[in-house]
Amino acid sequence: MSSVARAPGRVNLIGDHTDYTGGLVFPMAIDRDTTIVFEQSPENSPGEPTRSASTRADAVSLTSENFEGTVQFDLPVTDAAAVRPTWGRYVAGVAAAMTERSLPVRGFHGRVATEVPIGGGLSSSAALEVAAALAFGIDTDVATLAAVCRRAEHLATSVPCGIMDQLTSAAGVKDHALLIDCHTLDVTPVRIPESLAVWVVEISSRTLDGSEYPARVAQCAAAEREIGPLRLADLESADRIADRTIRSRARHVVSENERVRDFAAALVAGDAREAGRLMYASHRSLSRDFETSTKQMDEAVDGISRVPGVHGVRMTGGGFGGCVVVLAEDDAPIGTAVSAGTLVMRVRAADGASLATPLS
Ligand code: GLA
Repeated sequence: MSSVARAPGRVNLIGDHTDYTGGLVFPMAIDRDTTIVFEQSPENSPGEPTRSASTRADAVSLTSENFEGTVQFDLPVTDAAAVRPTWGRYVAGVAAAMTERSLPVRGFHGRVATEVPIGGGLSSSAALEVAAALAFGIDTDVATLAAVCRRAEHLATSVPCGIMDQLTSAAGVKDHALLIDCHTLDVTPVRIPESLAVWVVEISSRTLDGSEYPARVAQCAAAEREIGPLRLADLESADRIADRTIRSRARHVVSENERVRDFAAALVAGDAREAGRLMYASHRSLSRDFETSTKQMDEAVDGISRVPGVHGVRMTGGGFGGCVVVLAEDDAPIGTAVSAGTLVMRVRAADGASLATPLS
């Protein structure tokens, strides 16, 4: 009988490039899923003839509705980054990360499909990792599940990502955004007022692999060597950093942590205007101090900000392309501000990953 592992993408409302210094983020899981329909491979009974790679308990075989080719590898995985086709690296990375933690990994054969735009900054890779971990039979708390999947991304790619995407996909709560402290991994769901709508506009498809993301992580580490943990620092100490670039990066992180706190409070108070103001300030900080926006994204933020009913717009996720996120009244005509053919999605906050064995 087939099982179904489902994991959502995410959009971050505010708090970008703060997670890998243990800062605050405010994402929500979205109602767009990656789904793996699979059968766990039974153990070979003694004396039984060896099965084919697609059904052995120590092997994985996976096809995709979105990509060509079949991903096939044996367990345990030795080099996740070498697995082809390349989307299979994330799946193999999860198996390798589970093995590193001595978690049992069970092979499966199945098919993956996703509704999360790929390379759009909505965590398509995290959704694949979390769904794969469930298919491998992971049985841990959500924080460990997320940590394993974050490690998988490190093993699969050259992106030293933080934990936001994987934790959001694992821990999402319907109708709520998540205030996450990336140091303690405390997750506090905050209800999104019903009158507010969240939209995502795709500006460009890209991958963080090969981007300046690792350089930003290194610059934040350099700032921390000078002034200590950025999550505890204030703007005064950030301003004491001698190097101009490192100082700007630190200023972004310190001010963004503060904006996340204020944004959560504004949502609780139902103050959409203040929430919107903080989103614009976050975008400016990411664009000027952190330099992860692009001209196209800046223009989109500007254009969409003029649509009646829009409270706030900002780039979301790792940047260097990807999506902008919009907080608006329910009936705001977002599509009028973008060119024909641009992907515009109204998204709703969804529950995190789950595993189901359907009746058949
Ligand atoms: C990517 C990473 C996350 C986070 C964001 C920026 O999505 O995977 O860990 O760093 O960029 O906030």
